[in-house]
Amino acid sequence: MKHVAIFASGKGSNVENLLAHFNNHSSIKISLLVSNNAQAGAIDIAKKNNVDVLVLDKDQTADGNFIVAALASKKINYVILAGYLKIIPVELIHAYPEKIINIHPALLPKFGGKGMYGSHIHKAVVQSGETQSGITIHFVNEEYDKGRIIAQKAVKLEPGDSFNEVENKVRSLEMQWFPKIVEEVISGRK
Ligand code: GRF
Repeated sequence: MKHVAIFASGKGSNVENLLAHFNNHSSIKISLLVSNNAQAGAIDIAKKNNVDVLVLDKDQTADGNFIVAALASKKINYVILAGYLKIIPVELIHAYPEKIINIHPALLPKFGGKGMYGSHIHKAVVQSGETQSGITIHFVNEEYDKGRIIAQKAVKLEPGDSFNEVENKVRSLEMQWFPKIVEEVISGRK
C-alpha cells in the first residue's frame, strides 16, 4: 500500500475529489491531511472522511525536519500539494525526491512564481488576453513552480470570459485530471 499525505490551505475541492477517487483503492491510501490553516475547509473534509489531520503552526510550516518526521511516523510515500500556500522546506524536498506532486491552475511556465495563486492567476490570464488556460501537474523541487512537468491540460478561453469563468474552466480540468494523473505517477505509469 502506498500512503499519501495531502497538503492544503484552502477550501479543499481538490482534497474532496482526491479522497473520492482513492476511496477503497487497492494500493493507494490517503493517510494524512496537512494544513497550515486551522480554518481550512480541507480539514473538515478530511475529518469527515476519517483521514488524520496535522495542523502546522507558523514555525512548524518552515521546520522541514519536523514535517519529515511527522510524515515518516505515518509511513508516507508521496506528498500531494492541493492548494498549499506555504513554501516547502528543502528538507522535505530532499526526503521526497520526485515524490511531491503539485497542481498549478495555469499553463506553466506562464503565470507561475511568486504571488501567482488563486484568482490572481486567472485575473492575470484574462488581463493578458490569453486564448487558453489550463492546469500544470508537476513535481516539486527547490525552484518554486519549476519542477519537472508531469502533465498539462489546456482549455480554450472565449473573448470576454471573466476571471471567474476562467477559474471555473480550469477547476473542471483539475477535477477531471488531478486524481487520474496522481494515480498514474504513484502506480509507476508516469
Ligand atoms: C486550486 O486552484 C489548485 O489548482 C491550486 O490551489 C487551488 C486549491 O483549491 N493549487 P481547493 O482548496 O482545492 O479548492
